[in-house]
Amino acid sequence: MLATLYGRALDSARPNSVLHDGAAAEAVARLDYDFPGTGMTTTSAVGVAIRAWQLDEWLREFLAEHPRATVLHLACGLDTRAHRTSPGPGVRWVDVDLPDVVALREKVLPPPGGDYRLVGASATSAELWESIEGDRPAAVVFEGLSMYLSGAEVEEIVRRATGRFPSGELMFDAYGSLGVRLQKLVPPVRRSGAVLKWSLDDPAAPEAWGLKLLDSVRSTEMPMQDRLPRAGRAQLKVVSMIPGLRDVGRVVRYRFPA
Ligand SMILES: C[S@@+](CC[C@H](N)C(=O)[O-])C[C@H]1O[C@@H](n2cnc3c(N)ncnc32)[C@H](O)[C@@H]1O
Repeated sequence: MLATLYGRALDSARPNSVLHDGAAAEAVARLDYDFPGTGMTTTSAVGVAIRAWQLDEWLREFLAEHPRATVLHLACGLDTRAHRTSPGPGVRWVDVDLPDVVALREKVLPPPGGDYRLVGASATSAELWESIEGDRPAAVVFEGLSMYLSGAEVEEIVRRATGRFPSGELMFDAYGSLGVRLQKLVPPVRRSGAVLKWSLDDPAAPEAWGLKLLDSVRSTEMPMQDRLPRAGRAQLKVVSMIPGLRDVGRVVRYRFPA
């Protein structure tokens, strides 16, 4: 989460920034950490920003349709999604991450205001889900989490969301199986020592858990690609032509009930 924070900060300093995430740059300035050591390059930083932008857009669309809603932002890390999407007064926003990360977040990121809560808990813990009011439609958003979980844990999050809220959407990113197999080639993953587990090759597969697929966008097909440096655009063009490789990363959006 330090690498992706740094990615959003690097993007914010570019003249054609995707996210304009000034709060990310401020958080980086407050932390004494070897950020360049994460291996984040300009291309990967803009890639992180584009992925976040796509999820932000879907969330804005959901909130425009449901001005009284709950946003459950799991594995928030040091992401300032609530600051970026400026939810209206009818939105209850809950940021969730593991307790250590929440403690760090409290030190480096000011809360966004409004009906906002920051909770230190695992995304799969029963107590977390029981503590969230189930009275409104909900958007359950998680970025950079699904690939670190087992399939059973991802299914558990889906089942808890569909069991807790009357209706809503799930929005998240996922790696394809080739992405998980090639994980050691991704510098921020390799250097952090993280291990990727769950992968999604068929975006319709989670429909078996009671969801309806609304959208799926490959990393190679996301909007805003013109913001990438020239070398990154060329790299993406090559990747987009290779079956398997072009499916290494995607963002997906589902509705429930199906
Ligand atoms: C790659 S980071 C992504 C953070 C943030 N979403 C972003 O895009 O910058 C993964 C995050 O998942 C969190 N995480 C891992 N397992 C978790 C779990 N079981 N419950 C909640 N958060 C978890 C980590 O603490 C970390 O902040």
